[in-house]
Amino acid sequence: MIVEKELAPAIGSQVTGVDVRDMGPDVFREVADVFHRRAVVVFPGQNLDAEALLAFARRWGEPWMGPLLEPVPGTSAVATIVNRGKEGTVTEYWHSDSTFVSQPPAITLLSAVDVPEVGGDTMWCNQYALYERLSDGMKQLLAGLRAVHYDRQRFNVVQGRKPSMDSAAHPVVRTHPVTGRKSLYISGQAEHFEGMTREESRPLLNYLLGLLGLPDFVYRHRWRNGDLLMWDNRCTTHYAIHDYGAYPRSLHRVTVTGDVPQ
Ligand code: SIN
Repeated sequence: MIVEKELAPAIGSQVTGVDVRDMGPDVFREVADVFHRRAVVVFPGQNLDAEALLAFARRWGEPWMGPLLEPVPGTSAVATIVNRGKEGTVTEYWHSDSTFVSQPPAITLLSAVDVPEVGGDTMWCNQYALYERLSDGMKQLLAGLRAVHYDRQRFNVVQGRKPSMDSAAHPVVRTHPVTGRKSLYISGQAEHFEGMTREESRPLLNYLLGLLGLPDFVYRHRWRNGDLLMWDNRCTTHYAIHDYGAYPRSLHRVTVTGDVPQ
């Protein structure tokens, strides 16, 4: 029997009473139910090695490495996040993972290997809630609108990191393939609306980007070594805070293939 504890009113649950290395189908279904209701799930104290993380990720779908990362030696699809300094942190803004590809990953899993005592938190925002609070008029305006997403490093070059040249247009409002719920699907990688110039797009796009991180809909996670955390990229955005100077921070990361956003 799993024990679920909500971590913030709008998003995120902690799940205990389970070892993710050894989870039968009934328990897996319970965890999947929490995941689809809460979009972010934290499993404290799992202490997974890279292979065990990959094995757990495979229960959710096909692991996908993405165009930008190198796998940890000896694994096919586990990447390491390490402290590259504030300038080299390419995830310190509200985004959903790899939205510049046509089939962005559905799920990301992080396993905390060595994290600072204080600092290096990550925040997630519930994009269903952002969509639901829009006026009917704004919902009508956004229906049918698509945004074109690029790798931000094309415009904001980080030394030693080659940007992806992929770009993809996605609906600004998407319907989750499992829950059937609509969410805002806007990320800091969105540059303009399809068929419109950057100048024409920017006022509305900036308004939408400004909604990301609305405090009522955010969970901020303070990492502990051994934490396993997974999130749904189809209905959340996240922001990795670099406030820990030169302290070591290392996590293992696996993403799971998604479908074409509809
Ligand atoms: C990410 O955006 O995938 C990285 C999150 C983190 O470093 O906490």
